Amino acid sequence: MSFPEKHVFVCENKREADAPIPSCANAGGSEIRQALKQKVQELGLKKQVRINRAGCLGKCGFGPTLVIYPQGIWYGGFTEADIDEIVQKSIVGNEVIERFDLKKNQQQSAQPTQMRSVGY
Ligand code: FES
Repeated sequence: MSFPEKHVFVCENKREADAPIPSCANAGGSEIRQALKQKVQELGLKKQVRINRAGCLGKCGFGPTLVIYPQGIWYGGFTEADIDEIVQKSIVGNEVIERFDLKKNQQQSAQPTQMRSVGY
């Protein structure tokens, strides 16, 4: 029996569109998780990398959000068009893409340029 080497948790939490705090499902979280799964499968990495649905990751204002373990890479503010880059550089290559890096961007500014700052 083999075990996956990496897990990617993609937030799919959904709130009403007019809720005071945004949610990742309304920012494309489900579509992004499906695209990630498809890309991982295309690359033959399905056994090594699990793409999992997650509830709220506590970074709602930066959605869509995901976290990659065991690296502990936290991303927000990406789109489906960024999936190939995230898979190649971060999931396969363990590299942090700075423009999506929630750890860096949350520390630097309350309003990162490519991320919304509502919520957490
Ligand atoms: S709704 Fe996605 S991080 Fe909270």
